[in-house]
Amino acid sequence: MIKKNRSNKRWLQEHLHDPFVKQAQKDNFRSRAAYKLQEIDQDHRLVHPGQLIVELGSAPGAWSQYVVRRLGSDASGALRGQVIALDLLPMEPVDGVQFLQGDFREPEVLQRLEALLGGRRVDLVLSDMAPNLSGIASADAARVEHLADLALDFAVNWLGDDGALLIKTFHSGFFSQIVARYKQHFGSVRTLKPKASRERSAEVFVLARQPKAHAAES
Ligand SMILES: C[S@@+](CC[C@H](N)C(=O)[O-])C[C@H]1O[C@@H](n2cnc3c(N)ncnc32)[C@H](O)[C@@H]1O
Repeated sequence: MIKKNRSNKRWLQEHLHDPFVKQAQKDNFRSRAAYKLQEIDQDHRLVHPGQLIVELGSAPGAWSQYVVRRLGSDASGALRGQVIALDLLPMEPVDGVQFLQGDFREPEVLQRLEALLGGRRVDLVLSDMAPNLSGIASADAARVEHLADLALDFAVNWLGDDGALLIKTFHSGFFSQIVARYKQHFGSVRTLKPKASRERSAEVFVLARQPKAHAAES
């Protein structure tokens, strides 16, 4: 209990002094997570007007806000592109974003998402999904791996030729297997650690581009 209180106190201290938390308040982002995506997007040019973007694990909505701002709107105020966001939890609406609440591990939720695509290829799949951790390392690593695999399956089935997949995952027992599986399906796979991702956090991002199935078809 004492240990837990100490770590809560440390988290609060860090949070209060965190420059990204302050910046998020100024920029009106719902969380500092926006800056992780912003840095990766600035370095790797992921988001472009006109894209169809699917976001997995979107609540509270900072990535959705970032993506909508990057896509921009046309003269009539309509979003230049389409964003479909999904989360287990409810999410306050973000203008221009279609939100679907459900557990991405459930086949029925995947079907609802696929129905919204209406047969169109996706340009960018973003996943910031993070499982609830049990504290049992092997069980947690398996959950992380499962989410990474589900995002991969979805991307392999739905990305267009120039599509890209960005996932947040964690350095765990299965990390090298996750990267190896991504490499089976993509010509380019990079591991990224943006500045807004805390050094001591095991989280890491994997950016996969050049879907191989499409290269083989053409
Ligand atoms: C770190 S938060 C995402 C933050 C978000 N990118 C943002 O910028 O506001 C991780 C989210 O993943 C969601 N999540 C975890 N497992 C999920 C699952 N199986 N299906 C859907 N969402 C999931 C959680 O509910 C949580 O809201």
